[in-house]
Amino acid sequence: MENKARIQKVLSDQGILSRRRTEELIKEGRITVNGRPAQPGHPIDIRRDIVAIDGERIWFQKKKKNYYVMLHKPRGYVTTMSDEKGRRSVADLVADFPVRLYPVGRLDKDSTGMLLLTDDGQLAHQVIAARGHVAKYYHIVLARPWEDGYLQPLEQGITLADGAQCLPAKAAPVPDTDREALICLHEGKYHQVRRMFAALGNHVSELARVAMGGLLLPPELPLGACCVLSEKDVQKLLKCETDFASLLQTLQSHSS
Ligand code: URA
Repeated sequence: MENKARIQKVLSDQGILSRRRTEELIKEGRITVNGRPAQPGHPIDIRRDIVAIDGERIWFQKKKKNYYVMLHKPRGYVTTMSDEKGRRSVADLVADFPVRLYPVGRLDKDSTGMLLLTDDGQLAHQVIAARGHVAKYYHIVLARPWEDGYLQPLEQGITLADGAQCLPAKAAPVPDTDREALICLHEGKYHQVRRMFAALGNHVSELARVAMGGLLLPPELPLGACCVLSEKDVQKLLKCETDFASLLQTLQSHSS
C-alpha cells in the first residue's frame, strides 16, 4: 500500500528539519531522494525512499513518539519559540526536551497558567481548530467589581471594540470575592478575554488559564515548571470538559 507524504511534512514530523528549512535546503540542492535532487513537495514513503541531506542518509523512525508537555507559564514570558526582540520566551522553560516543541495556542506575556507544547502538529490543530475548539477556562481578577449585568452580553456573545464578534461564553463570579471570575471560551482570538472585559467597561488585571478540555492545571505544578502528559491526559484534553461549577468551587476555596 502506498503511504506517501510531502517531504517538508515528513522531515518536520520526524523532528529533523522545519518545513521552511527543508524548502531552503531543497533550493540549495542539498537534499536528495533516491539519489536525485529533491523537489519541494516531493512525495516520500518513509518505508521505501532513501532521503539524504548533504549526502548523509536519514533513518526514519517508523513509529514516532510525540511529546505532549504542560507548562505552568509564569508572567513575563512570551509564547514564541524564538523572539527577535530577545525577550524571555517559553522556549527557555522547555529547553531540556530532546525535540523541538511548539506552543498550542498562546497566552499573553502577562498571563499565567496552562500552556501546552507539543511536536504533534495534528494535535495542535485539533485543539485550536475553529470547529470543536477545546474549551479553555480562565481565572481572572478584574480591576473593578464584577457586575451581574455582564452575564447576558457574555452569554449572547460580546462584540469587541474592533467589531469582531465573540461566540457565547460561560462566566461567573468566584463566590465570596468581588473581583474574581471564571470564564470558559471555545475560541481564541488575540487578547480575547482582556478585550471582552474592556468591551464591558472593566479591565482584566490578572489572568490565569486553569484548565483546557477535561485537563486541570495541577495545583502542585510550580510556576515555570512543566510535566509530560500521558496518553490518558491527552484524551482528557480532547474528549472531556471540566465541570464549571466544581472549578468555581475550587477557586472559591483557594481565595478564601
Ligand atoms: N485571553 C487573553 O486576553 N489573554 C490570554 O492570555 C488568553 C486569553
